[in-house]
Amino acid sequence: MRDLKYNKLLSGLTLSTKIREELRVDLKECLLRNSTVRPPCLTMVLVGDNYASKMYVDFKHKTCQQLGISSRLVSLDSSVSQEELLVVIDKLNQDDSVDGILVQLPLPDHIDKQVVLSRIDPRKDVDGLSPYNQGLLMAASSEAVVPCTPLGIVELIRQVEPNLEGKLVAVVGRSLLVGKSVRLLLENYNCTTIGIHSKTKNPQTLCQMADIVVVAVGHAGIIDKNWIKKDAIVIDVGINKDNSSHTVGDVNRDSVYEQTINLSPVPGGVGPMTITMLMKNTIKLWKKRFKIKTKYC
Ligand code: GUN
Repeated sequence: MRDLKYNKLLSGLTLSTKIREELRVDLKECLLRNSTVRPPCLTMVLVGDNYASKMYVDFKHKTCQQLGISSRLVSLDSSVSQEELLVVIDKLNQDDSVDGILVQLPLPDHIDKQVVLSRIDPRKDVDGLSPYNQGLLMAASSEAVVPCTPLGIVELIRQVEPNLEGKLVAVVGRSLLVGKSVRLLLENYNCTTIGIHSKTKNPQTLCQMADIVVVAVGHAGIIDKNWIKKDAIVIDVGINKDNSSHTVGDVNRDSVYEQTINLSPVPGGVGPMTITMLMKNTIKLWKKRFKIKTKYC
């Protein structure tokens, strides 16, 4: 019930519904105007049977179907060797019917994530996690494929604060998927960012100074009102289970509401936005490949 208090502009469900409809219409028009071009194709690679990963891949597959994107899944046993996985990626890199390749993370411990992500052809790197695309993001190049969760986070923040210039943003967590990449992206919007991690001195004091706080550590309730400035925007990227198996974020919601209503909900905040931005990136790579230009993306 207390969730009713949050600023509805931060609903990732509402914003996703709008953007997905725009993407669907844009794609349909593109295909009508380019009748010899096939629809975009996203191929996801899932290693092992991690329950959450399977669920996310399923959500992505269903969203592709709703938008007219074709999606394929390559499911591999958790015992697959790194070499075998690299062979799968090489084949997808060479497959002309595939526009986007996504290797669902996390990977089993015996596989080096960095080696695998580096093998994806940057032109098909729909997640933007290859060193090439990370380098382009660092160089603020408009050619960069930007990781989906950071893109979704920025879209949500801009609903509440369209002008990001000069804003002080604290990013709690430094993963490649979220923390590191969202800092690069926000710096490109002329924000000043502070990276907070387990070895940061006085993290709470730093966080309290921030106009915007992005939390992505994967630890339920780690941030409470004592970390948050009055009326700050707080983006909760965490997806955790509490003791009653409810899905909760990294932010102690009830406590933070005492400081600000600008808190993105979990579930229904960043999660749907990540999938929406994956669809956008897939269509973008497909358009680039077939040299299709529209106003939309
Ligand atoms: N695991 C959790 N989120 C993501 C994501 O955005 N991309 C990939 N590849 N794996 C994930």
